[in-house]
Amino acid sequence: MEEHLTVGRVAELAGVSVRTLHHYDEIGLVHPSARTASGYRAYSPDDVERLREVLGYRRLGFGLREVADLVDDPNTDAVAHLHRLRGLLVDRRDHAAATVTAIDRELSARAMGIRPTPEEQLKVFGAQLYEAIGSAYPVTRRTEPRIAARIWEALGDARTVLNVGAGTGSYEPPNREVTAVEPSAVMRAQRPAGAAPCVAASAERLPFADQSFDAAMAVSTVHHWPDPIAGLRELKRVARRVVVFTYDASTTGWLQRFWLTRDYLPEFAHLLVGWPSLADMAQAIGGRAEPVLIPWDCADGFFEAHWRRPEAYLDDHVRRAVSVWTRVGPQAEQRAVNMLRDDLSSGRWAERNRDLVVLDAAELGLRLLVA
Ligand SMILES: C[S@@+](CC[C@H](N)C(=O)[O-])C[C@H]1O[C@@H](n2cnc3c(N)ncnc32)[C@H](O)[C@@H]1O
Repeated sequence: MEEHLTVGRVAELAGVSVRTLHHYDEIGLVHPSARTASGYRAYSPDDVERLREVLGYRRLGFGLREVADLVDDPNTDAVAHLHRLRGLLVDRRDHAAATVTAIDRELSARAMGIRPTPEEQLKVFGAQLYEAIGSAYPVTRRTEPRIAARIWEALGDARTVLNVGAGTGSYEPPNREVTAVEPSAVMRAQRPAGAAPCVAASAERLPFADQSFDAAMAVSTVHHWPDPIAGLRELKRVARRVVVFTYDASTTGWLQRFWLTRDYLPEFAHLLVGWPSLADMAQAIGGRAEPVLIPWDCADGFFEAHWRRPEAYLDDHVRRAVSVWTRVGPQAEQRAVNMLRDDLSSGRWAERNRDLVVLDAAELGLRLLVA
């Protein structure tokens, strides 16, 4: 019990009222696991950790229900929550800094007697400014037009399209009736205004009747699903056509082929343990696999995207938008980044990867599964 904190002490330290803590307990959001001898609620270190996550998300403006989804996610541990909270706070800070700059610019213009146009005035607080600086995910994870073209072509003449693991909506095709599925409240909250309607659900249990869509698509998401094969079967159940953009983990050759995993982050191999083979995934949807080469200037900042722009991996924003870096853990991440930084400044990276700079596109194991 000596490690436990009373409700009064927790309220004082956290800067919230005891009433708020009682309310969180009543709705099952943060339940203090013990009572003091005199019957007061007492918080264990684990309870405090959960409360801190709840307060962090609340202060970022998430609703109680969304916060509950976030903190109950069994795939997110304390470190992943801290990374996520940090990323969201950095975005807030960047957004505020950009707004201050825009206001300063307008003040200088007004001091010189220039009145900004209505459009310019609205941009200061509007969506366009936010798009310009955005949050970690939308800024680095954009639609890559050449990959989008492949996906949209594979969708054929489908009119109704289900996008599973939709994230912020990259690759959602225009001029078709799209329904998105996304389990993460953080991702749903970052979908731009006007994006396709989004249902909170998981691939493994799609809340739709058999064959209710012309096509289902899943982009850079299957490796996040607890049960990829079950999820892929669900896609096949609800749609007549299925298009999946994913990674071929069946051969470790790709690990050797990509300098980042070969020379700096061999831990990537651990993430592939238990991962279904490409053949199993293709079989789950009854489809075929086509290679997708990654253009050297790929606009979507997924893990392999910067194969010819190695400096990008030194940027925290680039890494935070890719789950691999969080999943390998901070020690492996820091070591890889330090080694890469050293090799870039010593010229060792350039020497080792001389053959890459002449390539316009690279084959690094990315695949389009089409059924
Ligand atoms: C790397 S993002 C890709 C998002 C988007 N498709 C894109 O290409 O930008 C992976 C997404 O898969 C979602 N996800 C994780 N587990 C899932 C599951 N079981 N079912 C469906 N989506 C899931 C995550 O929340 C995340 O938004």
